[in-house]
Amino acid sequence: MMGGALCILSSVLLLVVGAGVLRANADLAGDKQALLDFADNLPHSRYLNWTESSPVCSNWVGVTCDKDGSRVIALRLPGVGFHGPIPANTLGRLSDLQILSLRSNAITGSFPSDFANLKNLSYLYLQSNKFSGPLPRDFSVWKNLTILNLSNNAFNGSIPSSLATLTQLDGLNLASNLLSGEIPDLQLPQLQLLNLSNNNLHGSVPKSLERFPSSVFAGNDLSFPNSTPHPSPFISPPCDLQPRSKTPRMLNGMALLAIVIAGCLLALASVGILIFIRRSKRKGEEMFSGKLPKMRMSPEKAISRSQDANNRLVFFEGCNYAFDLEDLLRASAEVLGKGTFGISYKAILEDAVTVVVKRLKEVSAGKREFEQQMEIVGGIRHENVVELKAYYYSKDEKLMVYDYYSQGSLSTLLHGKLGEDRTPLDWDSRMRIALGAARGIARVHLENNGRLVHGNVKSSNILINPQQYGCVSDLGLAAVMSSLAPPISRAAGYRAPEVTDTRKAGQPSDVYSFGVVLLELLTGKSPVHATGYGEMVHLVRWVHSVVREEWTAEVFDVELMRYPNIEEELVEMLQIAMACVVRMPDQRPKMADVAKMIENVRCLETNNRPSSENRSERSSPLQPAVRSSPAPSQ
Ligand SMILES: *[C@@H]1O[C@H](CO)[C@@H](O)[C@H](O)[C@H]1NC(C)=O
Ligand SMILES: *[C@@H]1O[C@H](CO)[C@@H](O)[C@H](O)[C@H]1NC(C)=O
Ligand SMILES: *[C@@H]1O[C@H](CO)[C@@H](O)[C@H](O)[C@H]1NC(C)=O
Ligand SMILES: *[C@@H]1O[C@H](CO)[C@@H](O)[C@H](O)[C@H]1NC(C)=O
Ligand SMILES: *[C@@H]1O[C@H](CO)[C@@H](O)[C@H](O)[C@H]1NC(C)=O
Ligand SMILES: *[C@@H]1O[C@H](CO)[C@@H](O)[C@H](O)[C@H]1NC(C)=O
Repeated sequence: MMGGALCILSSVLLLVVGAGVLRANADLAGDKQALLDFADNLPHSRYLNWTESSPVCSNWVGVTCDKDGSRVIALRLPGVGFHGPIPANTLGRLSDLQILSLRSNAITGSFPSDFANLKNLSYLYLQSNKFSGPLPRDFSVWKNLTILNLSNNAFNGSIPSSLATLTQLDGLNLASNLLSGEIPDLQLPQLQLLNLSNNNLHGSVPKSLERFPSSVFAGNDLSFPNSTPHPSPFISPPCDLQPRSKTPRMLNGMALLAIVIAGCLLALASVGILIFIRRSKRKGEEMFSGKLPKMRMSPEKAISRSQDANNRLVFFEGCNYAFDLEDLLRASAEVLGKGTFGISYKAILEDAVTVVVKRLKEVSAGKREFEQQMEIVGGIRHENVVELKAYYYSKDEKLMVYDYYSQGSLSTLLHGKLGEDRTPLDWDSRMRIALGAARGIARVHLENNGRLVHGNVKSSNILINPQQYGCVSDLGLAAVMSSLAPPISRAAGYRAPEVTDTRKAGQPSDVYSFGVVLLELLTGKSPVHATGYGEMVHLVRWVHSVVREEWTAEVFDVELMRYPNIEEELVEMLQIAMACVVRMPDQRPKMADVAKMIENVRCLETNNRPSSENRSERSSPLQPAVRSSPAPSQ
């Protein structure tokens, strides 16, 4: 009786499991057949090595399967020379497909209606083909669609309003088609890349898309509702306006120059007013309330003003920036933090470029000295040094523009977000951050004939770069600032004993401050913190006292205790930190040696080699196409 039941039960189980395996195989076999049906019925000029006998997942060019090899999830066949329409009921059977790229072929016909079965589709690249006819009416079937690129085809009809349902949509490119009608209101806050240029669209650009630069609407018959039709204040791009060479190009007569400058100043003034209004309207979102330089001037005065060339953003490298001072001042900004030298804002420019703008207070240096320092700092290109993009200097306002790093600083990772939803910073991450920061500071120390001082090394100035390594920011400012942190502030906890004036900081004092950062990483404690008795304690002194009592194990952050087999590394890192914070500046190691010592503690996988030091080849993060997460290759 009992045995019989067990037997039935187990055969049912076997059946169920067996069916599962069979189904997976059947799904893959189905995907394989769908692909073969596709390739057999769509002529192509290049060879596709899809043979019946070879495994789909590992040997078919352009095909990617999921982890367990049971379904095809990506198909990338760019430039295979496909010509003709996509055969019906072929690709539409790949129901788990997430990425489809058929770009740069010569595919004709209409948008395949059976793509509606591809419910998981996230990336669709059909650009540069010869598709024609209308776009699908109902886009809501592709809930996960992230990038849709249909540019360079001959799609006609109107843009479907159902695109507005695609909450994941991050990039939409419909450029160079034959689309007509009005642009629907697409409330897609997620959307970062848009291009609707070169179609037959008319009407006005909806409010929801006004944040995109007008170039993405070019080549249509569109109007921009609320923008008063004033000529661009900068007749030439901003870089042309900055007389970097000491002899500014005098245009055809002073008159023109005067007009340009007057227009520019007027625009700035109106921006100032606009900002003031917007600022008083919004709460929680701060705007640059610039006490902007006084603007209302007669053109003649403006000319003399231009000679001291005060009001300009000075960019480093190239002229291909998508913003100017006006954009910067108009950008909505959010306070990131109040630092030693001023307040940092995160500013999102119109074309979805995010930068950090630091507003300096108490600059003691004169203009010349300030500019010289900025030229030095702005010349540094290194993976572990936050790039200074631009600066602005006028009597009343000094701004610095940096790249924005979305992952925040070491300080927030270590000390931010206490409580339950806090994710502890693991040891590997701490090692990578320490190593990156050490390399960054070492690089800074090479600059200016080996004399440049960072001057403000602390955990809130160590950001996390996209490779998850530390990256130093705020460098070189100490030399131009007058302030010195009060003795019990957190900032003071990083200060080497010999530093009595920020302007007297030297490279060994950077090493000291870095040692404090290492101690912070190891102990999880702030550089200045309260003891159980409410007493303020400097981290270095505390660590010394604990180590002296041979309670070394007590030093380390309890959050690190969960990681096995790292005791040796912890102790080695502690020794490096202690070497950095010795009292006598000349007994501290050089920063480059500190970086090597950290490398020796652990061979971290180094896709963060300093060899790629010269980054000028890379695309500037300020290009419109900036994105937070890379799209899969097409
Ligand atoms: C097809 O080409 C790909 C890439 O070139 C290769 O990896 C694969 O082994 C080839 N498959 C067959 C069956 O030749
Ligand atoms: C979509 O993908 C998920 C996994 O990412 C899978 O569980 C689901 O079955 C897929 N949906 C369809 C309709 O294939
Ligand atoms: C969308 O993607 C998520 C994973 O990112 C997946 O779990 C989900 O099944 C997908 N939705 C659809 C409708 O396929
Ligand atoms: C779109 O193009 C097709 C021919 O490819 C034509 O028959 C149709 O009328 C066009 N539709 C619109 C709205 O222009
Ligand atoms: C779409 O394709 C065009 C042409 O290949 C390319 O320039 C653009 O970057 C693509 N856009 C997106 C959002 O992928
Ligand atoms: C938009 O597309 C047009 C035509 O394909 C191209 O020239 C232009 O550079 C694109 N603009 C952006 C911002 O991608």
